[in-house]
Amino acid sequence: MTEESFGKDLIQWYRKVGRQLPWRATQDPYAIWLSEIILQQTRVDQGLPYYMRFLERFENIRDLAEAEDDEVFRLWQGLGYYSRARNLLKTARIIAFEKNGVFPSTADALQQLPGIGPYTAAAIASFAFGQRIPAIDGNVLRVLSRLFALDFSIDEVAHRKHFVALAEELMDSVDPAEFNQAMMELGATVCKPKPACSNCPVQAYCIGFGEGDPEDFPVRTKKTKVLTQEMHYVILTNEQEQIAIRQRKEQGIWGQLYEFPVWDHAQLEELWGMWKTTHLLTHRKLEIMFAYGQGIIPAKKHPYQWVNREDLRHYAFPVPLLKALERWGLMNSTP
Ligand code: ADE
Repeated sequence: MTEESFGKDLIQWYRKVGRQLPWRATQDPYAIWLSEIILQQTRVDQGLPYYMRFLERFENIRDLAEAEDDEVFRLWQGLGYYSRARNLLKTARIIAFEKNGVFPSTADALQQLPGIGPYTAAAIASFAFGQRIPAIDGNVLRVLSRLFALDFSIDEVAHRKHFVALAEELMDSVDPAEFNQAMMELGATVCKPKPACSNCPVQAYCIGFGEGDPEDFPVRTKKTKVLTQEMHYVILTNEQEQIAIRQRKEQGIWGQLYEFPVWDHAQLEELWGMWKTTHLLTHRKLEIMFAYGQGIIPAKKHPYQWVNREDLRHYAFPVPLLKALERWGLMNSTP
């Protein structure tokens, strides 16, 4: 699994099940900008009729720029945050009267305009102009923090560059507009505050899921509080008494160490025992449940390997996993 296949899997899902929304069917920067301003702090189902009414009344940026303020406020009514409507008008007038009706085509230039922050600028630049830049709103922050099990707060502006860098890697080899729409769609429909992981097209890549509880992410407060996180592993053997293991990705706790199949990835045929242990990390308390038994792991998606018991000592495991191996006499001593 690579960043490259992540983007492809995500987009394939998006093409199949993504909602068809009118602003996704256009590359007109005016319409896209309008949709993004309306959708700031507004749900899609609530914003949609406003978007339609605005576009019907003001077909292009010049029409909007020439409107009476009051008419725009009336059309905005019910959406709240009237500063958004005021900025909408200011920006329309700047573009129509000072820029000859031409939208800036880069996120940097777009951000100079009233009401356009980093997220909105990136959204317009990628959707309308194909700029390769991640659009990171609250939904996407949540997705990224779970995907990489990031335990730093999403509230701090100083952390933003980390999210941008991770998203840039993920979008590296796919269409930036589609990637951004798909990440947003994932956050809005699957990776919600209460996530629907069983419907997730990129579950196999998700470290937060792999660690047991994606709802531990994102971390929000600036205070370091210890979160309890549950994990579930299966020490799985086969007919040859080998054990299934795989290497973790580089990111997150225990990067590149080895681990067992996550409970949900394994099909247990016989259960020989269960055991629970706790493990303290700086910001997290892990409660790890192990099952021990015979079974199989579905071949696809999860690259596990079968290893002879006596070879287990050649692989690095997190301490609590070693303890579990010892407990069942599968490995002799902790190094
Ligand atoms: N919210 C903000 N921008 C959006 C978009 N392009 N599609 C769906 N929801 C959104």
